[in-house]
Amino acid sequence: MKHFLHETDFKASELPALFALARELKQNRGRHARPLAGQTWAMIFSKSSTRTRVSFEVGIHELGGNPLFLNRNDIQLGRGETIADTARVLSRFVHGLVVRTFDHAEVQQLADMGTIPVINALTDLLHPCQIFADAFTLMERWGPSSLGSDAASRGDDLVGSLRGRKIAFVGDRGCNVANSWILGANLFGMKISLAGPPGFDAAPEFDQLLAREGFAGGYHFTTDPVEAVRDADVVYTDVWVSMGKEEETSERIRVMSPYAVTEELFAAAKPDALFMHCLPAHAGEEVMQEVLDSPRCIIFDQAENRLHVQKAILATLAAGRT
Ligand code: CP
Ligand code: NVA
Repeated sequence: MKHFLHETDFKASELPALFALARELKQNRGRHARPLAGQTWAMIFSKSSTRTRVSFEVGIHELGGNPLFLNRNDIQLGRGETIADTARVLSRFVHGLVVRTFDHAEVQQLADMGTIPVINALTDLLHPCQIFADAFTLMERWGPSSLGSDAASRGDDLVGSLRGRKIAFVGDRGCNVANSWILGANLFGMKISLAGPPGFDAAPEFDQLLAREGFAGGYHFTTDPVEAVRDADVVYTDVWVSMGKEEETSERIRVMSPYAVTEELFAAAKPDALFMHCLPAHAGEEVMQEVLDSPRCIIFDQAENRLHVQKAILATLAAGRT
């Protein structure tokens, strides 16, 4: 059973086919095959969402399936039914799960205890769907614009276009999106520098995960944002107060304010560097409006590509069902 809980649930050798499929689904939207026909995929969400919820609901529908949105508090899970029983019961009804929650162990347990594919739609630890959509957005910019008919070489050229590029993540360097970009950068052969205030490190379980994947030390960390963005092809930031961290709001804004992506900081990267943000953004906090208005800001392409890349992930996982 194939799941998508971490970026590394796809081996490097599987990436070319995945991203070639994403491109095909994007180019043929409305005309492609419907590999989820007759299937229902449940979406259990414990946190707010605009992009992830809508792109998955639309994507499952466009692949011929039925999305079933379940707010955690509307099902018995919210009243204490165990994750294990929830996984066992839902496995009798539906063909796959898309899960957004706090504790990463929950998505792992749903995958371990159920008999259907599970997709991580964001946990406190990781946001792999975001990073695969971001990576595809960069492949569209840097990869070949037209591809030959050989499926393997098509995808190789796309994925290879990221190799050796540098991404700089500035701000809350221990958040889910930063962690996922560390995994993604290592998987795609990119360099990654992160800048943020001391004391906001990733959870210890992330270091264990990195070591397990053979990526220990696969990033550079500095408290100096200018150092991080030097020679960067991409400057990336995320909110300073992730969902679940609201009690720390005033402290986080105070210590992270030197890490705002200003026009001046963006200018310290390569002259053709791109600006990325997973959204939602807070203009005037982690990023200035002028940067969001730049022609090198590609945030809405990132958001759009959530749909196409997640459809490729759904189709790939559905094809792997036993
Ligand atoms: N970027 C992202 O996952 O957005 P949502 O929280 O709106 O789903
Ligand atoms: N780090 C953010 C990402 C939102 C898409 C959060 O977890 O709230």
